Amino acid sequence: FLLNQDSLKPFTSVCLFSLCTSMPDPGHFFLFSSNFTQLPHLAGTKGNMHLAQQVQAEWKKFGLDSVQLAHYDVLLSYPDDTKPNYISIIDEHGNEIFNTSLSEPPPPGYEAVKDVVPPYSAFSAQGVPEGELVYVNYGRTEDFFTLERVMGINCTGKIVIARYGKIFRGNKVKNAELAGAKGIILYSDPADYCAPGVDPYPDGWNLPGGGAQRGNVLNLNGAGDPLTPGYPAKEYTYRLDKASGVGLPKIPVHPIGYRDAESLLRKVKMHIHSNNEVRRIYNVIGTIKGTVEPDRYVILGGHRDSWVFGGIDPQSGAAVVHEIVRSFGKLKKEGWRPRRTVIFASWDAEEFGLLGSTEWAEENAKILQARGVAYINADSSVEGNYTLRVDCTPLMYSLVYSLTKKIPSPDEGFEGKSLYESWYEKNPSSEYKEVPRINKLGSGNDFEVFFQRLGIASGRARYSKNWNVEKYSSYPVYHSVYETYEIVEQFYDPTFKNHLTVAQVRGGLVFELADSVVLPFDCRDYASAVSSYAHIIYNLSRNHEEELATYNVSFDALFSAVKNFTKVAASFHERLQQIDINNLLAVRSLNDQLMFLERAFIDPLGLPGRPFYRHVIFAPSSHNKYAGESFPGIYDAMFDIESKADQREAWDEVKRQISIAAFTVQAAAETLKEVA
Ligand SMILES: *[C@@H]1O[C@H](CO)[C@@H](O)[C@H](O)[C@H]1NC(C)=O
Ligand SMILES: *[C@@H]1O[C@H](CO)[C@@H](O)[C@H](O)[C@H]1NC(C)=O
Ligand SMILES: *[C@@H]1O[C@H](CO)[C@@H](O)[C@H](O)[C@H]1NC(C)=O
Ligand SMILES: *[C@@H]1O[C@H](CO)[C@@H](O)[C@H](O)[C@H]1NC(C)=O
Ligand SMILES: *[C@@H]1O[C@H](CO)[C@@H](O)[C@H](O)[C@H]1NC(C)=O
Ligand SMILES: *[C@@H]1O[C@H](CO)[C@@H](O)[C@H](O)[C@H]1NC(C)=O
Ligand SMILES: *[C@@H]1O[C@H](CO)[C@@H](O)[C@H](O)[C@H]1NC(C)=O
Ligand SMILES: [Zn+2]
Repeated sequence: FLLNQDSLKPFTSVCLFSLCTSMPDPGHFFLFSSNFTQLPHLAGTKGNMHLAQQVQAEWKKFGLDSVQLAHYDVLLSYPDDTKPNYISIIDEHGNEIFNTSLSEPPPPGYEAVKDVVPPYSAFSAQGVPEGELVYVNYGRTEDFFTLERVMGINCTGKIVIARYGKIFRGNKVKNAELAGAKGIILYSDPADYCAPGVDPYPDGWNLPGGGAQRGNVLNLNGAGDPLTPGYPAKEYTYRLDKASGVGLPKIPVHPIGYRDAESLLRKVKMHIHSNNEVRRIYNVIGTIKGTVEPDRYVILGGHRDSWVFGGIDPQSGAAVVHEIVRSFGKLKKEGWRPRRTVIFASWDAEEFGLLGSTEWAEENAKILQARGVAYINADSSVEGNYTLRVDCTPLMYSLVYSLTKKIPSPDEGFEGKSLYESWYEKNPSSEYKEVPRINKLGSGNDFEVFFQRLGIASGRARYSKNWNVEKYSSYPVYHSVYETYEIVEQFYDPTFKNHLTVAQVRGGLVFELADSVVLPFDCRDYASAVSSYAHIIYNLSRNHEEELATYNVSFDALFSAVKNFTKVAASFHERLQQIDINNLLAVRSLNDQLMFLERAFIDPLGLPGRPFYRHVIFAPSSHNKYAGESFPGIYDAMFDIESKADQREAWDEVKRQISIAAFTVQAAAETLKEVA
């Protein structure tokens, strides 16, 4: 039996997930989506606990083998009911002559809903700072460089105002703190949160002037619960005291909409009284036990908690997970079982810093490191309606490409064509010839602990906007009260056809990873990715030719390791082609080499100053948690290196990071060699 991996045979999921049966069934997305979005499901509240119990009951009914709630007691943050957060303009006598609004005008039909949390920045420090206002653009590292180094503006003792967008809001807060600001206001600028020619909700899908973006402003760097870094937040777990929690901002932070932002000027006073408190959160964990390899796990996880109704984030994704669970349950009832165990997870408290997923992974870290094959992430399914967007490990590139070739395109003008074809036409890769673009994994979502800390191959897929022309950030109503079921049903995906496509991709990935005899991972794609990243970081270093010579900095060892990895990956792949798929032990042995390849890129010591980001090839950017950076250790060591006082010390750190990268790539290559 010669197995041709590229053709992914037998490709059962084509049949199971799109062609032969009604699984997934598009009709169910209306049902699940509207059911999940009628009420607020803020983490740590009764509303979200009830939804956990409902999901648990329904997953049992769908036929999973077991469905458990996994709870943790984690630090969360809420506004004070009696002392609202707001910002005022004060006159020379200290009179508050203008106040920002305390809540968003409710969307039509939702006027009577209770428990809508007003816009706030979760985990903000408390305080009532007063001072002059300094505009810091997006609050990025480069924006503060410009202010301080070019314009000579000193933010010490000032309140800064940054527009949302471009980078994760927690990075803005960190930058403001480092610049000496005593408070930061985040606002949604129409340039970033309104698409041209589109009306504000409810007439269109733009953010109304009174809408504002909620969100956490932590800098956790993968720690999970701020009080129990590295360990699950169980009843018995030792907790740091609240004042010394990981990643908590030291200054007050507050978000406002563009209507209020227009009014703010000169001198303002912030009133921030939100409280940090330990509350219980609930993950729902369902499993279907594998037949042949029950000790190998493929995980599909997405969050359930939302800031308010969660129309897009996360319920457009949770509805898709629900339907995938239903489909797998139906198959099971018809007598099917996957080869490997499939775990479905509905995470809590993602919005508060990926807490539910991280605590669960911390509790199960030993098992996951030994048995985790892959993690597929399932947040929002539709953040736009243009084409597919995929971020994944290079190990999954070929699987994603073959799978999308078998799924029909939902796009107008592509009738009878594949998803791959429309995706490629709309967003071709700039790096590789003749394939659609796939991005690096960064963070800001629940795959983080699995990929960046544990080294489990991960991927995510959703429908997105046209990033080349649609310049607004994320999507306009992101994390506002206007994320309703109706905005999805009226503007994003009226027939839910894109939900179906995303379900076919996410479900298809899980299906193939769980059921293929030989794992559908291609290590040659990791080799080309690592080679390309090595060239990119080397090219970056050549802006410093002189220092490279002076301090004798060489990338030779890294290129040598990359060359070795490339060679070993090619011969591994050849051996894989010749495997006797009836030889269970031989299959298992090669599969384990594939499974542990991602793990081999983990450095147990972590990246400098970021012990929970341990992947040597990828990390969330130090300047923007959402973005992925390749060879992050080397990149960070070289960042702004010209401004470092001690150049020898700075370049020594670059050399140390190059050697760590070279060692890790070589060590990964060793794991793929034929076992002696
Ligand atoms: C959602 O569906 C569940 C199960 O069918 C039902 O018990 C619940 O009342 C529904 N909730 C809403 C808000 O429609
Ligand atoms: C702003 O709020 C404060 C505190 O509630 C109040 O004293 C003040 O009058 C308000 N100012 C305006 C302009 O509404
Ligand atoms: C900014 O001002 C503070 C005090 O007002 C001072 O300590 C600090 O050195 C100044 N920073 C720069 C870069 O000038
Ligand atoms: C959906 O697609 C249409 C046609 O391309 C476009 O005009 C519209 O803006 C899109 N809607 C959203 C919410 O992106
Ligand atoms: C690196 O720079 C060389 C020479 O400028 C260029 O040919 C090559 O394409 C660059 N490679 C990458 C990966 O940027
Ligand atoms: C420069 O580094 C190389 C290895 O990278 C080493 O062989 C050589 O001795 C070093 N030269 C100096 C002057 O340190
Ligand atoms: C790459 O392989 C060659 C040949 O086995 C070996 O000499 C070299 O040290 C390896 N490179 C690294 C970085 O280990
Ligand atoms: Zn989300």
